[in-house]
Amino acid sequence: MASVSEPASPLHIPVLPLEVLTWLDPQPGQIIVDATVGGGGHAWRIAQRLAPNGLLIGIDQDEAMLDLARATLKETAVPVTLVHGNFAQLRQLLDALKVERVDGVLADLGFASDQLADPQRGLSFQSEGPLDMRLDPLRGEPASRLVNRLSERELADIFWRYGEERFRRRVARRIVEARRRQPITTTTQLAELVRRCVPRGRGGIDPATRIFQALRIAVNDELGALEQLLKQLPECLKPKGRAVIISFHSLEDRLVKNAFRSGPWEVLTRKPVTASEAEITTNPRSRSAKLRAARLRCVA
Ligand SMILES: C[S@@+](CC[C@H](N)C(=O)[O-])C[C@H]1O[C@@H](n2cnc3c(N)ncnc32)[C@H](O)[C@@H]1O
Repeated sequence: MASVSEPASPLHIPVLPLEVLTWLDPQPGQIIVDATVGGGGHAWRIAQRLAPNGLLIGIDQDEAMLDLARATLKETAVPVTLVHGNFAQLRQLLDALKVERVDGVLADLGFASDQLADPQRGLSFQSEGPLDMRLDPLRGEPASRLVNRLSERELADIFWRYGEERFRRRVARRIVEARRRQPITTTTQLAELVRRCVPRGRGGIDPATRIFQALRIAVNDELGALEQLLKQLPECLKPKGRAVIISFHSLEDRLVKNAFRSGPWEVLTRKPVTASEAEITTNPRSRSAKLRAARLRCVA
């Protein structure tokens, strides 16, 4: 049976929780995919709306997050199927579950606070840890490998493309100089190197912010995965099925906006939905969240 009060939650506080329900509009009996289930905060709320006879499918590329989701979602109003996988393979993942089409898909992009807080994941420049950054620790190259392997030019290109870092060439040059003496293997090694060659920006933002963002996006091929998801959504949704995507930086938001404008979509949010001042106060992470929603006109 559904528990009426929210279960004890992981560190991560879901952003735009009411707005997700408004735009996804889950209904009893529907099948909804949470393609970034994380700690299950959004999924738990969605599941309450699907009873009776609905199904919630939760996907995450991080097994550790699926463990948290399993705990959050152990008493929901409807069955929950949790899948370890990348949403870039959404069609394949649904095929494996023998699900042809679903009523809605939510993607709340990026990483969860629980991942950021674990120094072993190497996502934070504020704590010492291995320079890893993989959201799926079983796949791909850790950031340290990229930092020690790529040419100065390739590094500068990543820092510009995914971080819009003005001092990209200087940082790339210092990395190449430093790694000749000793490989760069930890978060603090890289953060200190960046702080030594990039001036602190206005607003006191740590100079390592943009470099860490850029590397994380590259390590996890975040834009490539989002493009794949956007391409597959029309083959996964029922007619009138809804897609709701929350992004945290302009590169992602642009991809979502363009896909919804050009595909078989009816755009539901002409402008992106953003967090209220009250939400930003209690959950500062929501400051940069942009939610876009669209409804499929016809099936692909
Ligand atoms: C912002 S958190 C989601 C939080 C979740 N909505 C909640 O309420 O707890 C993003 C999650 O998506 C996962 N993720 C990011 N990119 C992914 C991808 N391409 N495929 C599957 N999961 C992904 C991350 O591992 C992380 O757990």
